[in-house]
Amino acid sequence: MRPKRLALLGSTGSIGTQVLQVVAELAGRFEVVGLSAGRNVARLAEQCRTFHPQAVSVVDEEHAEALRREPGLEGVAIHTGEAGLRTIATWPDADLVVVGVTGALGLQPLLAALEAGKDVATANKEPLVAAGELIMRRVRAHGGQFLPIDSEHSAIFQVLRGEDRANVRRLLLTASGGPFRGWTKEQLARVTPAQALAHPTWKMGPKITIDSATLMNKGLEVMEARWLFDVPVDRIEVVIHPQSIIHSLVEFVDGSVLAQMDYPDMRTPIQFALTFPERCPSRRRSLELTTAGPLTFERPDVENFPCLGLAYEAARAGGTWPAVLNAANEVAVQRFLEGEIGFLDIPQAVGAALDRHDGQSEPTLEHILAADAWARAEVRSW
Ligand SMILES: NC(=O)c1ccc[n+]([C@@H]2O[C@H](COP(=O)([O-])OP(=O)(O)OC[C@H]3O[C@@H](n4cnc5c(N)ncnc54)[C@H](OP(=O)(O)O)[C@@H]3O)[C@@H](O)[C@H]2O)c1
Repeated sequence: MRPKRLALLGSTGSIGTQVLQVVAELAGRFEVVGLSAGRNVARLAEQCRTFHPQAVSVVDEEHAEALRREPGLEGVAIHTGEAGLRTIATWPDADLVVVGVTGALGLQPLLAALEAGKDVATANKEPLVAAGELIMRRVRAHGGQFLPIDSEHSAIFQVLRGEDRANVRRLLLTASGGPFRGWTKEQLARVTPAQALAHPTWKMGPKITIDSATLMNKGLEVMEARWLFDVPVDRIEVVIHPQSIIHSLVEFVDGSVLAQMDYPDMRTPIQFALTFPERCPSRRRSLELTTAGPLTFERPDVENFPCLGLAYEAARAGGTWPAVLNAANEVAVQRFLEGEIGFLDIPQAVGAALDRHDGQSEPTLEHILAADAWARAEVRSW
């Protein structure tokens, strides 16, 4: 069997490096034909020497220049900027495009990959939040596989295999609750970026780690699930499960509830997406139920973590509101990480942007991009 040829966007990030670990673990199954990074030239160069892609992309010409000075990269075509991301996303030799960049930055390359008829596996949830309907329309029009990597969505995707979607009563998304579960407003007001970056069960990039601490991540995932599985948001519920062993559940009309379980390790959903429709053996440890528990569940605290409620509101409003929620949150998280605003200012800033937005109900891509740009400017000056 010829190896599946991969183009990987965001290869130097948390998802990207784990995708390449899976590729290395399943030696011979994959060929890496394209990689894209932002600014981490040293890591990208190392990946090129190991995986020998035909082409790569970095954020700008300065980083391309630095990459050209690295040894062992002869014959690798180097692209830059957003055009470079699109070039890798549509690389002619790629069978499967894996999207591991963070933020709405992934939207245009994702659309380009789908339009080029590629199979796509994505961890990058923000494009689905901002433009889920447009993306799913493009998936249907071009007929490639569209595979989730996010662990909750991979869980639901696995549980739904072979099931009639009409028989789904509810989706139950699990959430660890983040590092501040049970904290009061007074405690949350004093949270520092360093505290928020210490996630109890998952090791991830900075943006999603802050989103997990505010519960915005779960709100974004509700919207991601809404589009991936075509289930209205009011039939998608969030349950706090601090051990992160059950990755999500589906309740069917007969009352059966099916779950997918494993230790929290992104390589499992990544491997499933890369090898789909096959399952391949892995050497990761088997789940030991007698020591993994006790498994506990509780309701999310929507009073002290208002981001989850804001996400439901934006999802119900539809149109350009989800794009505004997402872009406002991206900038608010960045400002929190830079020490400019407090932890509790994140939902305040996002809520203010949603309140002030004069939205479109059936947006085109241009409307969505304009709403995204408007919300970023709004929160930068908040
Ligand atoms: N990490 C997880 O476990 C996890 C789990 C589920 C879902 N997700 C989702 O997966 C996505 C990626 O998350 P992550 O945690 O892997 O993020 P991350 O560690 O921050 O990695 C982001 C990647 O995007 C690249 N990048 C950043 N800015 C760029 C730019 N302007 N142009 C081109 N590339 C750029 C980075 O490159 P440089 O580092 O080279 O600058 C890096 O390769 C997010 O949407 C997240 O919500 C992540």
